[in-house]
Amino acid sequence: MANHKIVLIGGGNMGRSLLRGILKAGLTPAENFTVVDVDEGTLGALRDEYGMQTSTDAAEAIVGAEVVILAVKPYILNGVLDGLAPTVEADQLFISIVAGVKGSYISKKLGKNNPVVRCMPNIAAIVDAAASGVSACGSATPEHLDIAEELLGAVGEVVRVKENLLDAVTGLSGSGPAYIYMVIEALCDGGVRMGLTREISMKLAIQTVSGAAQVVRESGEHPAVLKDRVTTPGGTTIAALNVLEAGGLRGMMIDAVVAATERAKAVAEETSAEASEDA
Ligand SMILES: NC(=O)c1ccc[n+]([C@@H]2O[C@H](COP(=O)([O-])OP(=O)(O)OC[C@H]3O[C@@H](n4cnc5c(N)ncnc54)[C@H](OP(=O)(O)O)[C@@H]3O)[C@@H](O)[C@H]2O)c1
Repeated sequence: MANHKIVLIGGGNMGRSLLRGILKAGLTPAENFTVVDVDEGTLGALRDEYGMQTSTDAAEAIVGAEVVILAVKPYILNGVLDGLAPTVEADQLFISIVAGVKGSYISKKLGKNNPVVRCMPNIAAIVDAAASGVSACGSATPEHLDIAEELLGAVGEVVRVKENLLDAVTGLSGSGPAYIYMVIEALCDGGVRMGLTREISMKLAIQTVSGAAQVVRESGEHPAVLKDRVTTPGGTTIAALNVLEAGGLRGMMIDAVVAATERAKAVAEETSAEASEDA
């Protein structure tokens, strides 16, 4: 990456994670990075920690920038885009992590047919372990997608999908951490139910989930093969698997992803309708 001049709008949870990841990965020096936020306190704390530039004036901050990352809440976005329209240049790449807002909408609001790459990261960006989907929208080229992939790659894994599949990414990995938090909590409760202390139970549950994921990743084997390998005939694991199958665990997980995807689609439609009413 050629030390692009980057402006990040929104220094909240996700914005801060991207800032930290991008600087840590050395993708651009701090002097080429500007964070825009409405809160002077937030900006001061980020400046002290990372030494990048800060501004409360997004229109002024984007002058000369090559990449603008949008990391504000969806309901704030319209006001931000309206504010940028007077100074935006057609060749500036917009990378949006704003949930539920189409790339074409952002490009249209900016009024200059800007390339937009829409992304759906997840909360694990805060520990550089995000799972993100990215999509090229409008005039965005594969080179623009490369830039977005590299920047998002600083905080985890990135996959490329068509924009119409970003809702499915939301249903699987965007909302997914919550499903796994529930699994960890339930495993821990199981241990407590059988007499382990909560502290020991939690430690075992966390390591079991992260260790199992690591084995799948590093072995490259199908999870079903790995499951069969640890299932002794007549043993303890098959007794538990029997319970999980009877309870419909796999079907329930699939249904959960479907439900979240459908909800993401509905929210995106509501957001687009509200956004076009505001436009
Ligand atoms: N959190 C997730 O897991 C997740 C996952 C995928 C995508 N996303 C998307 O990421 C985006 C950011 O989420 P977040 O959790 O980081 O939200 P957040 O913590 O609320 O961060 C947004 C930041 O933008 C600031 N802001 C508000 N108005 C602004 C303006 N006009 N100009 C510049 N900055 C402004 C906010 O300041 P104040 O707090 O003072 O208002 C806040 O610091 C959202 O669109 C969300 O849909 C989040």
